[in-house]
Amino acid sequence: MPADQIKRVLVIGAGTMGHSIALVFARGGYEVDLVDLDENILKKSLGLIQSNLRTLKDAKMVHVRSIPKILSRIHPFTSLEVAEKADLVIEAISESPKAKRKLFQTLDRLCPARTIFTSNTSYLNIFQLTKGIRPDKMLIAHWYAPPHLIPLVDLVKGPGTSAKTIKTAKEILLKLGKTPVMMEKFIPGYISNRLQRAMAREIFFLLDGGYATAEEIDRAVKSSLGIRIPIVGVVQRYDFTGLDLALDFENNPSIHLVSKKRRPKTLIQLVKKGCLGVKSGRGFYDYTSKDIREVLKERDRKLIKLLKFLDREKF
Ligand SMILES: NC(=O)c1ccc[n+]([C@@H]2O[C@H](COP(=O)([O-])OP(=O)(O)OC[C@H]3O[C@@H](n4cnc5c(N)ncnc54)[C@H](O)[C@@H]3O)[C@@H](O)[C@H]2O)c1
Repeated sequence: MPADQIKRVLVIGAGTMGHSIALVFARGGYEVDLVDLDENILKKSLGLIQSNLRTLKDAKMVHVRSIPKILSRIHPFTSLEVAEKADLVIEAISESPKAKRKLFQTLDRLCPARTIFTSNTSYLNIFQLTKGIRPDKMLIAHWYAPPHLIPLVDLVKGPGTSAKTIKTAKEILLKLGKTPVMMEKFIPGYISNRLQRAMAREIFFLLDGGYATAEEIDRAVKSSLGIRIPIVGVVQRYDFTGLDLALDFENNPSIHLVSKKRRPKTLIQLVKKGCLGVKSGRGFYDYTSKDIREVLKERDRKLIKLLKFLDREKF
């Protein structure tokens, strides 16, 4: 189905990712059916969408007069009764192989033959899970939090994904001001999440070993990699370092990187205590004295400032 014929999008799962993806499509002029099994989450997600819109309005990225129109394009449901109208599906439900397989089987029955299926899975091989279900129209479109601000969407081809499906998905994302990055085949975590996981091992090793506090580790990264990466990425950076020096680093035996067998003690203890991060009021940092919405807003305000400065806020 060509991109210009896609009018109605079905976003399934209204959690951390789904509500914000729904907002991106509604801002782009699409009719969005937003489905979640949990009525409370659905209600909460509509509140978060409104709060996100206020942040975008304050940043002059959305005009106050367009807000009611954007909101009127989002239609909440607790069942898949609307699947028959979908041109494009964004699956953003919990990361459970069983639940995702069942959902796509149901969608295959309910959606018209033209409907393109995308999954926001972070690590699951959706192509194996959905073997035989419209392989030509199945692909991974993996967004980054918060989707209403972060430009990247990984587009991952399955063994049967057609060139037409890829072209349509790419065109829609570009129209939405996003940065689609193509991956020719599936690998869990794609590019950015794999790099994050590699860093995670070292972060938790430094914390557990008492080498530096969470605050100091963050200060170090914000004052170095955080500034450099938006400009030179992680590969071009070596051209500036000098490849001979880069090879010396690789050959230097003094840094032993952490093995994947090591368990992150501090992280395990915090999770056991119910310290799950912003959503529970405490993680590595303490947010108990603050309103969670305000914490999210503060993060978004800073992200917007940076996106504007980097000239990356297209939408
Ligand atoms: N959180 C992130 O930063 C992030 C980033 C990229 C990708 N992802 C991926 O996106 C997906 C969703 O992640 P999330 O963090 O938004 O999860 P979440 O737990 O915040 O939201 C998932 C929502 O799906 C709903 N749900 C579960 N089964 C359902 C079904 N059959 N039908 C309708 N609704 C259903 C749940 O009620 C819940 O509200 C996962 O696959 C995750 O790996 C997450």
